Amino acid sequence: AKPVIVAIDGPSGTGKSSTSKAVAAQLGLSYLDTGAQYRAITWWMVTNGIDTADPSAIAAAAAKPDILSGTEPTAPTITVDGVDVSGPIREQDVTSKVSAVSAVPEVRARITDLQRAIAASAVTGIVVEGRDIGTTVLPDADLKIFLTASPEARAARRSGELKGADLHTTREALIKRDAADSSRKTSPLAKADDAVEVDTTDLTLQQVIECVVTLVEEKR
Ligand code: C5P
Repeated sequence: AKPVIVAIDGPSGTGKSSTSKAVAAQLGLSYLDTGAQYRAITWWMVTNGIDTADPSAIAAAAAKPDILSGTEPTAPTITVDGVDVSGPIREQDVTSKVSAVSAVPEVRARITDLQRAIAASAVTGIVVEGRDIGTTVLPDADLKIFLTASPEARAARRSGELKGADLHTTREALIKRDAADSSRKTSPLAKADDAVEVDTTDLTLQQVIECVVTLVEEKR
């Protein structure tokens, strides 16, 4: 059978990662976390003293780091210049700077090329999660899903992940990041016209997974 390409987009805290990994594992597909790639390039900028508030400095350095993404859904890892950064890219400092770095067109062009190459080499197919996968990276995907949830539900899920984080602070930071991602000029967070929108506010993770698995199976 022809490889199946699934694009899953949406703001943070909608269950994109958990859903995408589970769907890929269940259906024997590869998995790509594109947010991890933007986090990895942001980690490299911070580590190398690049001012993340200076778009021209970011643009000039965008081609330098060597980013390698694992595509195994049960244990996705990511390395930058051979260093496993799977842990450090989740830290607060990277999270607060990633929207500014990912808004720079040179960064997006570079990362988009990596994403398309990875998707093209997936043997059985791939689930790619992000913000602009259905609109820009893989506009010919076999299935496009756009996950949404209320801001309250999204903040509650995120603070559950980040142990000890205060709900109000998490909610404010999340709203700020989504606003930046949605309003940037180059491929903002957006629902593709042909995407299936799934509101996960009142659904369990298991229900979302089942819903997406059914939609993928209809395409195979
Ligand atoms: O999904 P995650 O929260 O890890 O994404 C981190 C950030 O990476 C997003 O807030 C956004 O700025 C950026 N991103 C993006 N395009 C994607 C995936 C993530 O700009 N396809």
